[in-house]
Amino acid sequence: MCSGLVGPAISLNDYAPSPQITVLDTGGQYTHLIARKVRELGVYAEVRTSETPAAQLAGRKGIIISGGPASVYEPGSPTIDPAILHNGTPLLGICYGQQLMAYLLDGTVEKGSKGEYGSAVLTVGNIVSPLLKGLLQTEPVWMSHRDTVFKAPSNFDVLASTPTCKIAAIGNDAQCQYGVQFHPEVVHTRAGKTLLENFVFGICSCQQDWEPRHRIPVVEEKIRETAGQRKIFFFVSGGVDSTVAYTLCLRALGHDRVHGAYVDTGLMREGETEFVKKVFAELGATAFRVEDARDFFVDKLQGVTEPELKRKIIGEAFVEIQDRVLNSGHYMDQDWILGQGTIYPDTIESGGTAKADLIKTHHNRVEGIQKLMEAGRIVEPLSSFYKDEVREIGRELGLPAEFLERHPFPGPGLAIRCLCSDMDAPVTRIAEGWVVPVHSVGVQGDSRSYRPVLAVESLEHESATELINQLATVNRVIGLIGSLVPMAELSVRRSELTKERLDRLRNVDAIVRRLSLAAGFEREVWQFPIVLIPLGTAARPDAVVLRPIFSVDGMTASSVPLPAALQDQLKTELLAVDGISAVFHDLTHKPPATIEWE
Ligand code: XMP
Repeated sequence: MCSGLVGPAISLNDYAPSPQITVLDTGGQYTHLIARKVRELGVYAEVRTSETPAAQLAGRKGIIISGGPASVYEPGSPTIDPAILHNGTPLLGICYGQQLMAYLLDGTVEKGSKGEYGSAVLTVGNIVSPLLKGLLQTEPVWMSHRDTVFKAPSNFDVLASTPTCKIAAIGNDAQCQYGVQFHPEVVHTRAGKTLLENFVFGICSCQQDWEPRHRIPVVEEKIRETAGQRKIFFFVSGGVDSTVAYTLCLRALGHDRVHGAYVDTGLMREGETEFVKKVFAELGATAFRVEDARDFFVDKLQGVTEPELKRKIIGEAFVEIQDRVLNSGHYMDQDWILGQGTIYPDTIESGGTAKADLIKTHHNRVEGIQKLMEAGRIVEPLSSFYKDEVREIGRELGLPAEFLERHPFPGPGLAIRCLCSDMDAPVTRIAEGWVVPVHSVGVQGDSRSYRPVLAVESLEHESATELINQLATVNRVIGLIGSLVPMAELSVRRSELTKERLDRLRNVDAIVRRLSLAAGFEREVWQFPIVLIPLGTAARPDAVVLRPIFSVDGMTASSVPLPAALQDQLKTELLAVDGISAVFHDLTHKPPATIEWE
């Protein structure tokens, strides 16, 4: 058992207890997953940037350094305050975290002769360590690295290895410092939970203090305290976060003091506005209004084909409408504050989010909202919770399961799923398939790509990435599920974001959702965007692309195969829709493609 430096605990967030464990983020895609896994053990954990000064981490019972894509020996790569290595706080370095510990102490790190990606077999050595208590002699673990610790620091034991990685776990029991090259936070590491329990309870002596649904009374009390005598106004999106946040405020302050508005942009899925109205009516939200801005948005999007321009116009249209609502309702007056459904990952500047922002513009600033934020006139009751925790709170509050399990849906809505073209253009036959001159967004390395799509006749996922690497001219591969005429007779047609095409997309989207829900497929995937592309014939100018994906947080995603029976049903029903010529399945993972096409 080890003990960290005793000092005043700093609570960064009034809605949560002081964190016992801090995960230092070195830019890895699994950083939040580590914190979530610790929370699942009932211990409150937070994520901070890797270079957080040790003084700000006083009182932590343990620190975990995350994995990340950099190499420790490259100038400018993420590091930690070295004081953390010498103040007695128990430490666990994962992947890059282990390499960083070794490098900052007196070990060495080198580029491995070959990388190790995916499942590996870990062999646990003979040295007994509290970190690996309960592990079998051989264990399946998940690896994702090229660099490796070549020499462990002095006073560290090598605890385990894999055939490719001689130093896969290290430990110094006297200092309570440990490192693992594999990822205990991902499901493929069978004993990952045991290892994290060993660290959190056995080594750091944490106490269980975290059960999101038990926080509801504390959160409500905090809302009352923040609001004082004032009232709260919300823009709700119909999504889980803003609805749960709104519900908490309703419970805390009563119906008279919480107002909300939902902007109907005309870019939403079928039945969305009615659904949102119904959910809010059932909550008893009396001061809730729908702002009808359908014509306003569609008019502004006339003739626009370029994705970033679409986003910009939609963002600005939102700003105009929201400002209008804020001012017409006197919500800028001193007796109002703004409520928002911000959740924990949105509050942190991590490597992942910074990178995502380069690929597509997601956020738009409303001046009024900005002013309220700057004046501290804002309440964000969910700012310490992860999505799953928000769902758990929602369940406890009695929100319908049908609502809580909804897939994420992008702010700009169907506009970024309805692709346009400013000219007529033929498809080009090449050995691998047909190059379709409809451009979509991709993410390769750290940068955005905007390229045509390759259509193929097979539905094999594995070859998609290979084809993209090989051709270098496309960033996405779609497989043909069915078409009314041969591929060679389809061509890209000049097309705009019209009401007619939005209605067509809304219609096919609703058909897919109905069949996918009935087949139980909706629950198996993380998101299932439906995209309309201007590929067809004069009579039937559009094609549908199905994009079912699995993801943890949207940062990376894998394309999911469709069950055969569902695929047949989709093909039959979608090809019967007026204006639709063909149905495709997007076979591309993220990276190299993004989840949405624009
Ligand atoms: P991409 O397409 O970047 O999407 O791989 C990742 C996740 O983000 C969602 N998304 C958005 N959400 N406003 C949003 O609120 C946006 O502009 C936006 N663009 C993409 C997308 O649906 C996926 O879940």
